[in-house]
Amino acid sequence: MTDQEVRKGLYGVVADYTKISKVNPETNSLLYQGYPVHELAERASFEEVALLLWNGELPTADELAEFRSVTAARRGLDQALIDVILAMPTDCHPMDVLRTAVSFIGANDPEKFTVDAAHIRDAATTLFAKLPTIVALDIRRRRGEGYIEPDPAKGYSENFLWMVFGDGEGSPATVASDIEAFEKSMVLYAEHSFNASTFTARVITSTNSDTYSAVAGAIGALKGPLHGGANEFVMHNFVEVGDPANAEAWTLDKLSKKELVMGFGHRVYKKGDSRVPTMEACFKKLASEHPEKDSAKWVEIYDIMAKTMYDNTSIHIMPNLDFPAGPAYYILGFDIEFFTPLFVMSRITGWTAHIIEQFENPTIIRPLAAYNGPDERHVPQR
Ligand code: COA
Repeated sequence: MTDQEVRKGLYGVVADYTKISKVNPETNSLLYQGYPVHELAERASFEEVALLLWNGELPTADELAEFRSVTAARRGLDQALIDVILAMPTDCHPMDVLRTAVSFIGANDPEKFTVDAAHIRDAATTLFAKLPTIVALDIRRRRGEGYIEPDPAKGYSENFLWMVFGDGEGSPATVASDIEAFEKSMVLYAEHSFNASTFTARVITSTNSDTYSAVAGAIGALKGPLHGGANEFVMHNFVEVGDPANAEAWTLDKLSKKELVMGFGHRVYKKGDSRVPTMEACFKKLASEHPEKDSAKWVEIYDIMAKTMYDNTSIHIMPNLDFPAGPAYYILGFDIEFFTPLFVMSRITGWTAHIIEQFENPTIIRPLAAYNGPDERHVPQR
């Protein structure tokens, strides 16, 4: 194999077919099963999007009602799982807690291996229902607060915000537009073709391993700062910049040192991420509705950094979804280290849709490598 045939990072390699989503960098568009993501964010709930990704069609009213009732009933956590979460160190990354919780749930599934697509859908439904409860419990235990049981009468996002923040004065669980902004972020983060974590899930599934192992592996891949972890680093950067007056110089300094500015650039989109306009509008609306959180300065920093990156990079690097999502989650009141677990709550839908697709079209994923180590040699006689 010659060097020219090596596609480092699988850059530009088309690894398989997928019906689940289409990323078109030329037109800046992202389609879930044919539907533009920005239309889904405006007109569909996250639960409808989950069913769309898994089944290929938007659900009927009856199918949606059935799914809502099944997931509401599965939101609770067994005491054994609560004990596992409470036993985790409070200074480990929350993604470690999620990975462990998914493994624990899998170990307790009586079907140890994936048997058919119905089993994957069932596991996906369980994880869709329980991940928000796990994340909420982890947030609260680190704050020294007690577990709030899920409320089956509440919708997906309202229930989650309630489990995290309760229903006291100013809780986003009590503000319709906060709930709506969170729900939209779930729709936008749900699916994105063969990204690193989804591909990880497909690789694991391609060995005929089980759904929980594939999801645990995907969580590991998403944790990295070049992938899902970027939304946390975005906010750390906003906090480090601190004042709009510093934003331009801070960004130029990063560029001059050839350091990455988190929340910018994309492996596929080179002319702008199609999800950004919707999330940016959500972020700016949240900011205008929450002046008490000193939000105006985050908007100013956002705009200055975006302009500085565009104007000062030869390829005009633009924000990706993490750039507006980070400060939006911050305004909603989430601790920064929990931004990537929020991404997991959403992407569980896309991952499991791909796990089903891979399972139904089995081919082991196993690329080749161009060896560039030492020529054959021999171990000295001893
Ligand atoms: N900050 C500064 N420079 C960046 C950059 C960023 N966020 N993203 C890309 N660049 C630079 C690259 O270093 C490269 O420079 P070079 O030509 O001097 O080597 C050039 O722009 C072209 O990079 P490109 O080929 O477009 O990037 P990629 O496809 O290899 O990597 C990412 C894509 C997402 C991994 C990369 O943009 C990145 O690390 N971004 C920050 C992390 C992030 O936000 N991740 C979330 C992705 S949704």
